[in-house]
Amino acid sequence: MGATDAVMKLLQPGDEVITGNDLYGGSYRIFTKIYMKYGIKFHFLDLSKPENIQPYINDKTKLVWIETPTNPTMQIVDIEGIAKITKANNILLTVDNTFASPYLQNPIDLGADIVMHSVTKYIGGHSDVVMGALLVNDDELYKNLWFIYNACGATPGPQDAFLVLRGIKTLHLRMKAHCENGARVASYLKNHPKIDKIYWPGFEDHPNHDVAKKQMRDFGGMVSITIKDADLQETYRVASKFKVFTLAESLGGVESLIKHPTSMTHGSIPKEEREKVGVTDNLLRLSVGVEDIDDLLADLEQALS
Ligand SMILES: Cc1ncc(COP(=O)(O)O)c(C=O)c1O
Repeated sequence: MGATDAVMKLLQPGDEVITGNDLYGGSYRIFTKIYMKYGIKFHFLDLSKPENIQPYINDKTKLVWIETPTNPTMQIVDIEGIAKITKANNILLTVDNTFASPYLQNPIDLGADIVMHSVTKYIGGHSDVVMGALLVNDDELYKNLWFIYNACGATPGPQDAFLVLRGIKTLHLRMKAHCENGARVASYLKNHPKIDKIYWPGFEDHPNHDVAKKQMRDFGGMVSITIKDADLQETYRVASKFKVFTLAESLGGVESLIKHPTSMTHGSIPKEEREKVGVTDNLLRLSVGVEDIDDLLADLEQALS
């Protein structure tokens, strides 16, 4: 969030930002609860088609902030398509690349100006560090962001840096395993009688599967599901039955995690807003780890039954 905060500090009161309507809850929170107070205006849009941003662009629009795949409904935003529009209008494009990791997706090659990673997730890879990163390919932007970073103090400590350097050495091995297990878990859940909806960009019937195929090297280890006919209590009860998947926030570590967005990470988004994009009380999000796939499938089976 310190990295996100540094990007927002490039803006001035009166500036406008276009962003998605399915976002990590903490990003929504910093935009609406902190930066709106400082006079920044936000447009939360369905970004499934790049042209959706066109009517919201005016001379105050300074930043488009996208997340892809989105947290938690795994929508895919066409980075190259959005970048064509932002470049033509002299607007900065930032991509939160946390779910894909640099192993699966490289937004700067697709025209983004700034890439943000929650390093806490796949890059660190072991759920033992909290860190963020901003990547740019422009000297002036680099100097401006470095100034903000140094002036405002979101600097990681040496022990955290050591853990990330150690973790990143196995990013390519871990990501292969996350993708392989993610695909197996998604296929297993797709036809499960207790599952209503499933969100994973690797399915051919995912609305932006073709865009995912074009801009990602594989589909990752994040899978979201809704439990059939379950209310908040029943969904939480299912989530608490897992033994291999741990019920916890965060994602991207070697251990599989399960979380209930509406009572955890997305609690700060108003119910009517989050329900518009499918973040309902019966939604669960899985961060599929690198454990033995048979153990993961057996855990899903016992918890769902
Ligand atoms: C997509 C996304 N972006 C940003 C963040 C914030 O990361 P951190 O917890 O490292 O501040 C998260 C955390 O869950 C996330 O899922």
